[in-house]
Amino acid sequence: MTSPVDLSRFPRVALGNWPTPLEECRRLTEALGGPRILVKRDDVNGLGVGGNKLRKLEFLLGAALADGADTVVTFGGVQTNHGRQTAAACARLGLHCELVLTRSVPRGGDAYERSGNVALDLLYGARVHLCDDEQATAATYRQVVESATARGRTVATLPVGGSNGVGVLGYVAAAVELRDQLGSVAVDRIVCPAGSSGTVAGLALGTALLGWPVRIDAAAVSPPADGKPADIRRLVHEAAALLRVPPPELDQVRVTDRALGPGYGVPTEQVWEAIRLFGRTEGITLDPVYTGKAGAALIDAVHTRELGRDETVLFLHTGGLPGLFGYAPELIAATHP
Ligand SMILES: Cc1ncc(COP(=O)(O)O)c(C=O)c1O
Repeated sequence: MTSPVDLSRFPRVALGNWPTPLEECRRLTEALGGPRILVKRDDVNGLGVGGNKLRKLEFLLGAALADGADTVVTFGGVQTNHGRQTAAACARLGLHCELVLTRSVPRGGDAYERSGNVALDLLYGARVHLCDDEQATAATYRQVVESATARGRTVATLPVGGSNGVGVLGYVAAAVELRDQLGSVAVDRIVCPAGSSGTVAGLALGTALLGWPVRIDAAAVSPPADGKPADIRRLVHEAAALLRVPPPELDQVRVTDRALGPGYGVPTEQVWEAIRLFGRTEGITLDPVYTGKAGAALIDAVHTRELGRDETVLFLHTGGLPGLFGYAPELIAATHP
């Protein structure tokens, strides 16, 4: 039987270790008093400390290389995990990497601007441009492209979070991998964060193409949360067009802002509680920007009984470990008050 998902005609470079581990979390399940929790460890997929962007970058950089690019430019916040994984992938592939980063989070100081992802960006050889606002970001981007082009380079520009139709294919592939890995284990819902929304879009499209009726609960980590369904739909449509399949209905996807708090990159006490719980029951590290918010959303859904105690939940761990060190003073205060 041929697979309903054929990604073989898309250029792709190997960056991660697949399949990523799938772990049964008995102590976390017990601590939550019910739902069986499995964690899909996309945080430990290898290159550059790992994370969800490697899946997207396999296709994005595959396309960039096929187009003859030797320089990659991308964007994000100061502590972008996408930027750091792009830098690591470019190092592996021998590409120049330019990261145009915006101070979009109300944080500063050495821990935030000179540690965590930023330190690794530099380690992996990327040129880092820190910009104060969107206007400066746009101007810097133009300069970076002009200067690279003037030196005879061919530039590929990747969107924030690696989220476009091509990047989404990475999480279509992840859905196939997960379905195979689960075998006869029935999962009721997948819980994950939603930022630029490519991860959710890929899972939604992949599970739909597989005819897998799993619910997807996404925790918005950046505002506006009510714009995410439209973002997800647009990305699903883009990727479906590339795959030449009709875009599916997205009835199985829900986005909530229950853990968003004051905004992107601002952790709440519930987020630190989730980070402590995963750390102390399973030795799993969540981060304060993405997975900590998804963890807080999961805990809240259990407490409000929206998530049944007899359900099986797949928590998609999308990475973000280096970002935790950008918040080192708060982490210490939250774990050792
Ligand atoms: C650790 C981590 N988790 C989740 C996300 C969100 O993924 P997406 O942008 O595909 O919604 C990101 C995006 O940067 C991330 O770095």
